[in-house]
Amino acid sequence: MSEPRKLYIKSFGCQMNVYDAQRMTDQLAHEGYVETQTAEDADLVILNTCHIREKAAEKVYSELGRLRKSQDELGRRQMVAVAGCVAQAEGAEIIKRARSVDLVVGPQSYHKLPELIAQAELRGSNRRAGIVETEFPVEDKFDHLAAPSRAAIAKRGPTAFVTVQEGCDKFCTFCVVPYTRGAEVSRPVAKIVEEVRRLADGGVREVTLIGQNVNAYHGEDAAGRPVNLPGLIRAIVEVPGIARVRYTTSHPRDMDEELIAAHRDLPQLMPYLHLPVQSGSNRILAAMNRKHDRELFFETVERVRAARPDIAFSSDFIVGFPGETDEDFADTMDLVEKVRFAGAFSFKYSPRPGTPAATMAGQLPEEVKSQRIYALQALLDRQKAEFDAACRGRRFDILLEKHGKLPGQLIGRSPWLQSVVVLAPPEAIGTLATVEVREVSTKSMSGQILGGEFFDGRGEPAARFMGSIGQSEKVEA
Ligand code: SAH
Ligand code: SF4
Ligand code: F3S
Repeated sequence: MSEPRKLYIKSFGCQMNVYDAQRMTDQLAHEGYVETQTAEDADLVILNTCHIREKAAEKVYSELGRLRKSQDELGRRQMVAVAGCVAQAEGAEIIKRARSVDLVVGPQSYHKLPELIAQAELRGSNRRAGIVETEFPVEDKFDHLAAPSRAAIAKRGPTAFVTVQEGCDKFCTFCVVPYTRGAEVSRPVAKIVEEVRRLADGGVREVTLIGQNVNAYHGEDAAGRPVNLPGLIRAIVEVPGIARVRYTTSHPRDMDEELIAAHRDLPQLMPYLHLPVQSGSNRILAAMNRKHDRELFFETVERVRAARPDIAFSSDFIVGFPGETDEDFADTMDLVEKVRFAGAFSFKYSPRPGTPAATMAGQLPEEVKSQRIYALQALLDRQKAEFDAACRGRRFDILLEKHGKLPGQLIGRSPWLQSVVVLAPPEAIGTLATVEVREVSTKSMSGQILGGEFFDGRGEPAARFMGSIGQSEKVEA
């Protein structure tokens, strides 16, 4: 048998890229590729890129430069593919700008990777022109992408992403996603449930349903009847082994009554909701074409909190959108003060080629954006710290996910995605444990296990694994 070929994939950007990288790996496993941890070691390097902001998009070129240098040093040329949203947005431009690229493949064509690689290999020796595939094909890539093996699932741990919806029809004026990922497409319920079943068989306990606009999900059941996101979630919580479900990213306009009721009725649906608002100013929200105002956001938050009182919110913000005045920004700060977030991502507005906002009047200087992002992040950090500090002394379940830094430690996730360090044996990974939080630091918290699936289920006295935890450990979130 020939040596397995080695594959290195590096993903940038959002969770969908993480998921896509896994699906590409699964697909290429059938072609005899095994994963490796460094580009130098690989026969095939895939850069799975993000186009959302200029900085994100430029990363691919610095990465390609680095690769080129190491290729020269090693005197070895691997095949290099650029996938993801920069591939979709820039296509052949990438090959013009970085001659070391053999293949450019957009997100809707990953199922064609084996044939594209074969084509690139054929061309490689005699012609330097790369292969570019950025069509939005009519067939559904998900019907052709290979499923992960049990070993691959187990290696990835007890949590998994599952794409249920891809693309976006909202066309916010700042955003490239409708162009890079295409129109909204929802996968059929049966396909998603089958995928979740397979993951659960491999030991997955928590799935995060992902989509650029996940709460606009509108798939079909086996009889062709429409199913919305709460309907899909109800089907998924029935899958044996699945203990927790999350979904991301939602649009405020699509938080309907039935989805809110699911937060009340389904204990498996975790009480943490990422609901991007972008701005607190109605004027800016209109210019962004967000299709909602701040009042709708407040109302939605209140309705969700009424249905599920322990829910916490996170959000995305953009500061320095064209025409944003001090008053507009004050409205954003005011919205944050009023809602209180448990986490957030905030960004300086980055003009993206081809989007309407890029050519709007009133583009703001970098210093203004910097001042505003600094103030906003300070407020959001304070709110996150307050939310975390309030967890001290509380009891809740965590899903034990992986080893901690020190021997004997495991790291689990709270319902609100906080990392909690506990003392527990490695065999407990993949189980739910009830903890009491003892220490809270900026990056993680530590707790004591009171019981749980592993500790009770095997009849082991929980005390055997307890022992007090001294210092709280800092763990990368
Ligand atoms: N589909 C999601 C988010 C997609 S992109 C939604 O509708 O909210 C993730 C985040 O990147 C966005 O929420 C936004 O805050 C940020 N973002 C998108 N385009 C941007 C741009 N041009 N400049 C700065 N931030 C941007
Ligand atoms: Fe981009 Fe807006 Fe669509 Fe989100 S809803 S992906 S921000 S266009
Ligand atoms: Fe980036 Fe594409 Fe995701 S632009 S954020 S990788 S959808």
